[in-house]
Amino acid sequence: MNGKEEKKPLIVVNFKTYPQALGKKGVSLARALASVKSKNFTIAVAPTLLTMKEITVLPIAVFAQHADPVRDGPHTGSVSVRELKKMKVKGVILNHSEQKIALPFLKQTIGLCRKEKLTTVVCASTLEEVKRIAPWKPDYIAYEPPELIGGEVSVTTAEPRIIGRAVKLMKHISPSTNVLCGAGVHTAEDVRTASQLGCQGVLVSHAIVNAKKPAEALRRILST
Ligand code: G3P
Repeated sequence: MNGKEEKKPLIVVNFKTYPQALGKKGVSLARALASVKSKNFTIAVAPTLLTMKEITVLPIAVFAQHADPVRDGPHTGSVSVRELKKMKVKGVILNHSEQKIALPFLKQTIGLCRKEKLTTVVCASTLEEVKRIAPWKPDYIAYEPPELIGGEVSVTTAEPRIIGRAVKLMKHISPSTNVLCGAGVHTAEDVRTASQLGCQGVLVSHAIVNAKKPAEALRRILST
């Protein structure tokens, strides 16, 4: 995901650990989403770590849902950035509100990902957190208010002003960082509004993962 492709808005479908994302179902879900082609967006999926190996061979960008700031060595249970890279993972979601990383460790993890050339999507729950993370210059910062995650009201409807402020802030502190938003995104209008507010894409989960026909749901939200 670099060069020309990186400039297209990014849609990351986070599988979390919804039942549809586990084991064979997760692989089928990824396969269905890989069939969706878009000229205007880069589509990425963030499957569970345990299904990743079977998904990185599919024609779709794969992001990890988390990584730890560890190098090779005695770190039981950790998710190694270097191993993700070897598995052909393209990027990593860091500091999701469901998997927070203490700030000093977050800084280290962003550094390790940069070294391995993995795209970083760092989540921030508040504008204050956006400000703290900005100087570390991740590739993307994703504003996701936790109270809207999993709900039917999109962040673009509930908090357009905060998204706009996050975009301004990043232009000021780290112009190379693109802004995403997520939480409750479920329509094409939500994706359009995100772009009008200056975002370079969205993170989305339940509206796609839990849809009866996930590929159709994804096509629908990407329709302009
Ligand atoms: O990482 C994306 C996520 O937290 C948003 O979840 O279900 O509100 O689209 P959802």
